[in-house]
Amino acid sequence: MKQIQTIAIVGAGAMGRGIAQIAAQAGKQVLLYDLNADSLKAALADVHAVWSRLQEKGRMTAEQVQSATACLQTASDLQGLASADLVVEAIVERLDVKQGLLQQLEEIVSADCVLASNTSSLSITAIAQACRHPERVAGYHFFNPVPLMKVVEVIDGLRTSPDVGDALMQVSREMGHTPVRAKDMPGFIVNHAGRGMNIEGLKIAQECVAPFYQIDVIMREQAGFRMGPFELLDLTALDVSHPVMESIYRQFYDEPRFRPSPITAVRHAGKLFGRKNGEGFYKYEDGKKQVPQ
Ligand code: NAI
Repeated sequence: MKQIQTIAIVGAGAMGRGIAQIAAQAGKQVLLYDLNADSLKAALADVHAVWSRLQEKGRMTAEQVQSATACLQTASDLQGLASADLVVEAIVERLDVKQGLLQQLEEIVSADCVLASNTSSLSITAIAQACRHPERVAGYHFFNPVPLMKVVEVIDGLRTSPDVGDALMQVSREMGHTPVRAKDMPGFIVNHAGRGMNIEGLKIAQECVAPFYQIDVIMREQAGFRMGPFELLDLTALDVSHPVMESIYRQFYDEPRFRPSPITAVRHAGKLFGRKNGEGFYKYEDGKKQVPQ
């Protein structure tokens, strides 16, 4: 089985920077790239700030911070990712853009480099079909925030070589994450099962049974979820999760169970995305959620 030592990450947003952090902490050589230079700079500053905080709290030693820092490098273009054993893409959730990126990467990386997608909702088989070697393409679906959500879905597309999934299972464990293997079906496991909580929460709000923040309280305190559906939607961000809901609904041929809500549609249109831009269902001041009284 292929040993993965150098990991390239394309897309340094919420997910890409989290994946970069855990990989560097595990001693992997990390090459982080983003089309947007500001996003790349912000990601690097963000990860370094996290490591400083962890050191202050005594959860990382100075040596560990130093060695993780040395492992994390940025690339100024895709050519800079040529030495990768694994590329994880965490870019915008659009099939044509992801397909185009993997086609470009195939011209740059070695013949046995694994190409993995962090897509939440797109078919791995569809992403891979534009590649010359679809057998090296797999799904690698982390959760937000990556360093705290220590589980990851490894998804075999219809043409994925079993060795590729095996290598991702192995490298996940090396990075301290528990991998769960799934087949390429809409939403894989979590975005299939998880639709239930989000969509029912939205229906309860739409029926005016209770305001959104009280639904969150019940789902957290009584049902035992770490976050309520609206807290989770704000964390994931509606620019990501509303299109995901639409995509999963369409892929199940308009199955009513998965129908997205007009509540998220209008908020998506109004750019009330969530934590990332300061206002979603909740408002955020200095990153702190303001709960209506
Ligand atoms: P984000 O919007 O925070 O970051 C995306 C980054 O990709 C941006 O910095 C952008 O500049 C960059 N980018 C866009 N197109 C690019 C390209 N062609 N080449 C290089 N960089 C490019 O998005 P986020 O939330 O990190 O999501 C990324 C992917 O991860 C999406 O496929 C999403 O569905 C998936 N995902 C998101 C989760 C979440 O909770 N936000 C959870 C699990 C998966």
